[in-house]
Amino acid sequence: MYRDVRMSGPLKGQADVPGDKSISHRALILGALAHGITRIKGLATGQDCGSTIRCLRALGVAIEAAGDECLVSGRGPEGLSEPADVLDAGNSGTTMRLLSGILAGRSFFSVVTGDDSLRRRPMDRIIEPLREMGAAIYGRSLSKFPPLAILGTSLRPVYWETRMASAQVKSCILLAGLLAPGLTSVVEPATSRDHTERMLRFFGARVDESNDSKGHTVSIQGEARLEGRDLSIPGDLSSAAYLIAAAAITPGSEVVIRNVGINPTRTGFLECLTRMGCDLATFNEREYAGEPVADIAVRFSQLKGIPVEASMVPRLIDEIPVLAAVATQADGMTTISGAKELRVKESDRITAMATELARIGAKVEELPDGLVISGKTPITGGVTCKSYGDHRVAMALAIMGFVSRDPIRIEGAECVDISFPGFWNTIAGLACNGH
Ligand code: S3P
Repeated sequence: MYRDVRMSGPLKGQADVPGDKSISHRALILGALAHGITRIKGLATGQDCGSTIRCLRALGVAIEAAGDECLVSGRGPEGLSEPADVLDAGNSGTTMRLLSGILAGRSFFSVVTGDDSLRRRPMDRIIEPLREMGAAIYGRSLSKFPPLAILGTSLRPVYWETRMASAQVKSCILLAGLLAPGLTSVVEPATSRDHTERMLRFFGARVDESNDSKGHTVSIQGEARLEGRDLSIPGDLSSAAYLIAAAAITPGSEVVIRNVGINPTRTGFLECLTRMGCDLATFNEREYAGEPVADIAVRFSQLKGIPVEASMVPRLIDEIPVLAAVATQADGMTTISGAKELRVKESDRITAMATELARIGAKVEELPDGLVISGKTPITGGVTCKSYGDHRVAMALAIMGFVSRDPIRIEGAECVDISFPGFWNTIAGLACNGH
């Protein structure tokens, strides 16, 4: 399915975004491992969390879900039983990597697969530590790619140094560590998003963190008894980013996005926009389940290009496609480096953004580990762009419809539903308020 995108600004008014996808996966999984009922409000409604719900149900967990509310009946780790069929994680790397940590620690056999994109994503990064902990786990191409076949066991704790800052890898090991006796530690070269750590503590586990020359170490005391909880999930900053970006580049815009998670391990995009000269403010700060939340106000601003250093990348990893789109409308050069992980996301996001932004008139150079964008360039549109089935590429291109001379045709536009069902209506609503 394609969509022709040419929207006229300004964007005005207020909007909400779906619940945070990362936090929702964790609430569902920890709810399943806990004892008793977990009530979740504001759950992410996209397809990815639907995949986690489907897999957990296939493992015998009772989950009632209606809209963005959900009730998980946890019976402890022993409440998970051998699935009768292959588990399907769909497009969701988080589902596959986090669940594998749990499956490795339960004494039964399971197979986890996913869609074409997920079956091309590297899994050796979780297979190696889970083997070290004692699980038998195999994948395609000498255990690099899904599907994964897992024979779980009583795990032993591990001390593991990861090669990359990845919250999915860290979380996989911490969840396996939760099922093992003793102390499991993960050292990551830079701090990745810490939702698992916060959620584990919220459910009653002991998690400690420290920093030294090796990087950031997170340790979990295994075999903690988790208790069911009631919680609300903040709105997803990664979804809000498209609305914020659209307002920042569209003259006359002024919008407020309500109820957005502002966990400091995720706010790199907001900091980069501010450095680019964007008039942006967070207010009304509060906390949900150990996660900071705020409303975010943003106004159209004349932006300037900036260097985005490698040390910033883990804190805006999912926002790099939309940052690249914004950078086409900033004066001067924006250089993004140290982001080679982008090549193994839902698509190769470096090639995807370099190719598609250039197609609509932007000046973009592809680096092995990033992008150089020279602005400000007029966006011509009038062409067909590919989404590569990648929700973040589709939404990053969509917002260029506000500054494009002619419509941009986006092929495979339906993939926005992976993380942001309602994206088109929300953005059209803000544009409509401006008229
Ligand atoms: C996520 C971690 C990140 C991010 C992904 C969600 C998570 O992936 O890109 O969208 O929920 O833990 P990596 O851990 O592979 O960097």
